Amino acid sequence: MTSLDTLPLAPLLDRLFAEDEASAPFAIPAFAAMPATERDRLMESRTEYRDFYGHLKEMPLAVSRETGRLLYILARSIGARSVVEFGTSFGLSTLHLAAALRDNGGGKLITSEFEPSKIARARTNLEAGGLADLVEFRAGDALETLARDLPDAIDLILLDGAKSLYLDILGLLESRLRPGALIVADNADFSPEYAWHVRAPETGYVSVPFGGDVEVSLRVG
Ligand SMILES: C[S@@+](CC[C@H](N)C(=O)[O-])C[C@H]1O[C@@H](n2cnc3c(N)ncnc32)[C@H](O)[C@@H]1O
Repeated sequence: MTSLDTLPLAPLLDRLFAEDEASAPFAIPAFAAMPATERDRLMESRTEYRDFYGHLKEMPLAVSRETGRLLYILARSIGARSVVEFGTSFGLSTLHLAAALRDNGGGKLITSEFEPSKIARARTNLEAGGLADLVEFRAGDALETLARDLPDAIDLILLDGAKSLYLDILGLLESRLRPGALIVADNADFSPEYAWHVRAPETGYVSVPFGGDVEVSLRVG
């Protein structure tokens, strides 16, 4: 049995995913009142992403259950010990990645989030899952918090913050990726320049979109 399927994590994940599935961004009046074009513009903006996520700060916005398990499987299969995450929210993906580190024998997960209330909730969830000792929470805009004090080698990156920043965040981390490292980007279709980068053979990746919402890329260069 893995950490994912035993106490305390299994029932915690069940509860958190149920809460995520019951949450409704359109129940937030200011968000619901916004024209769809304005929502899209904010989501794709390189300068106003903070407004977009500010409206949604009470929402978990978690990866799917399937993507969570995929993250665990990928991190286990490469024996990951060093993981960086862009976009913590309430920590659903963080729990899966930290569980993989635990089952790999230990390691460190650096995760970044700019909403202080979300960091507090994620920390509580990681403590409840018995995994907080593996996680370093970096509060603030990831463009700043992931620009320094990085591990020499990174085994796996999860990109799940503002889509317009995927390529910038990869740029901060790319030189630390070891050959054979993996990148999982949620909803990469909203970041065409990122998708182009990892799919272009000359940039040093083998990459594939699948399942409708994730892009998985292998660092070969
Ligand atoms: C889709 S949610 C992440 C969900 C999380 N990975 C999970 O599965 O539970 C995106 C999160 O990224 C945060 N975020 C977006 N852009 C960011 C940035 N530039 N720096 C730090 N956090 C950011 C948002 O506040 C939001 O909580």
